[in-house]
Amino acid sequence: MPEAKHEVLVLYGGRSTEHEVSCRSANFILRNLDPKRFDVKAIGIDKEGSWWPQDTAKLLAAVPGPVAIVRQASGPVPPGSLGFQAAASPPVVFPVLHGSFGEDGTMQGLLELSGVPFVGPDTLGSAIGMDKVVSKRLAQAAGVPVVPWLDVRAQHWTKRGEALCARALTELGLPLFVKPARLGSSVGVSKVKTAAELIPACIEALAFDDRIMIEKGLNVREIEVACLGDYDPALSVPGEVIAHADFYSYDAKYLDAAGSSVQVPAHLESSQVKVAQQMARQVFVGLELYGMARVDLFLEKGSGDFYFNEVNTIPGFTEISQYPQLWAASGVDAQVLLTRLVDLALQRHLTKRSLRRSK
Ligand SMILES: Nc1ncnc2c1ncn2[C@@H]1O[C@H](COP(=O)(O)OP(=O)(O)O)[C@@H](O)[C@H]1O
Ligand SMILES: [Mg+2]
Repeated sequence: MPEAKHEVLVLYGGRSTEHEVSCRSANFILRNLDPKRFDVKAIGIDKEGSWWPQDTAKLLAAVPGPVAIVRQASGPVPPGSLGFQAAASPPVVFPVLHGSFGEDGTMQGLLELSGVPFVGPDTLGSAIGMDKVVSKRLAQAAGVPVVPWLDVRAQHWTKRGEALCARALTELGLPLFVKPARLGSSVGVSKVKTAAELIPACIEALAFDDRIMIEKGLNVREIEVACLGDYDPALSVPGEVIAHADFYSYDAKYLDAAGSSVQVPAHLESSQVKVAQQMARQVFVGLELYGMARVDLFLEKGSGDFYFNEVNTIPGFTEISQYPQLWAASGVDAQVLLTRLVDLALQRHLTKRSLRRSK
């Protein structure tokens, strides 16, 4: 008798600024989940946060591209109404949701409460990975070099903003990068080349997050390593993104086909590959991650030094995204990659379920 298929529920869309990216990533996931092993369902979350169950066969029949969110006449289902606690074999949820309310631990908390296995880091790891300030502090604690920065909360901006900007100019110099602490896809990120641009750049970033960072701008190559596994992950070959614009901006990432290019594997010496992979492992472990993550590093052109930049715990899975490409170049094809991710979700679920809940 053939083994029963396990249900995988893909959640996509979401309320963040990366909604459209998620709809593109969902395409890759839906098309590459092994149909022999998995019975794939999907729920699209619109920008207002309503959950819309989808007709998966129809989604798959559509031309590849961003997956639409079809609003059925029967209406949305209550968000988080997963109610699977009692099920012996609940579906594995694949939250293909980038950014706030998807990648930041809030959705993971909801899924943990619902008692369902899910792909990617747990609530803690996701919340850590989303916050660039906390990530950098933990990476530092794990002995990984980070680029010097100052951070400020919106609450303190009026009183301390100007002084902080003056300090940043003296201590960190120009150019500077200003970014929201908990966003992605370069939304709200500015490269500051003159002192006069600094305050407007902070105000821009504060429109997206109530904590921002001002970071020393380095002349860098951008190297990325994909991690896959439990608390001792496998590491991919490093890749490189080459921004043809001033930096790797939102437009360069998603809108302008000529804005950036990807080099997989990156052209690096074997000793540099070792350093990058070792750093990625230290970050993955130090930031309490599980399942998957893409660790983004800077390689400073002048010194040849590596720095940790940021981690993405639900990395892009679009046709041009690095995470699946890095694994393909490391001998792990899309179907094998997704099966491994679902298996890791099940493995953690079983471990947690076996824990005693009373003395
Ligand atoms: N300190 C820095 N020095 C040089 N370039 C930077 C620095 N910080 C950010 N950048 C550029 O800005 C891009 C976006 O910043 P990043 O911190 O990766 O935020 P996001 O989460 O939005 O991707 C980077 O890919 C890089 O091109
Ligand atoms: Mg980035």
